[in-house]
Amino acid sequence: MRQTPLYYYSSASGLVRSFAERLERPVFNLAEREHRLSEVDGPWVLLTPSYKTGNDSNDTIPEAVRRFLRSEVNRRGLVGVMGSGNRNFGQHYQMAAREIARRSGRPMLFEFELAGTPWDVAEGRDILERLDEALFTAHQPAPGR
Ligand SMILES: Cc1cc2nc3c(=O)[nH]c(=O)nc-3n(C[C@H](O)[C@H](O)[C@H](O)COP(=O)(O)O)c2cc1C
Repeated sequence: MRQTPLYYYSSASGLVRSFAERLERPVFNLAEREHRLSEVDGPWVLLTPSYKTGNDSNDTIPEAVRRFLRSEVNRRGLVGVMGSGNRNFGQHYQMAAREIARRSGRPMLFEFELAGTPWDVAEGRDILERLDEALFTAHQPAPGR
């Protein structure tokens, strides 16, 4: 069964990367140019932190994520969004992930803080395994045909 790949952005502090690398599936860091400029060959999941900029628009979506989503192929293949944030940011908590989910019409699959607890990692693995199965089943021919 195909393991749905996860594309994430992580800054120098590396909290999201730490979470992503514990998922035990193919994960790609959009901070790396090679991945940021690539196009995905099928369904994939986005994991993004939020970064409040402090300017008027208070834009929180990392530029690398924006760049990756400029590709129509990537936009079409996106099946769900996960977010890492920090509740100290109050009303801006998870703003980037939630905005992408809203604008793309894709479900928000999971939200956690910082690098995630061991429980968060286990939950993230479970959610992605269930997604793999659902995508696999959706591609099987209907019984009796
Ligand atoms: C300057 C700055 C701004 C942030 N803005 C937000 C925010 O608006 N909303 C939020 O939920 N978390 C915010 N965070 C928390 C980060 O999204 C969170 O720590 C994330 O795990 C960072 O992942 P990374 O270390 O992989 O880049 C901010 C963190 C920093 C340092």
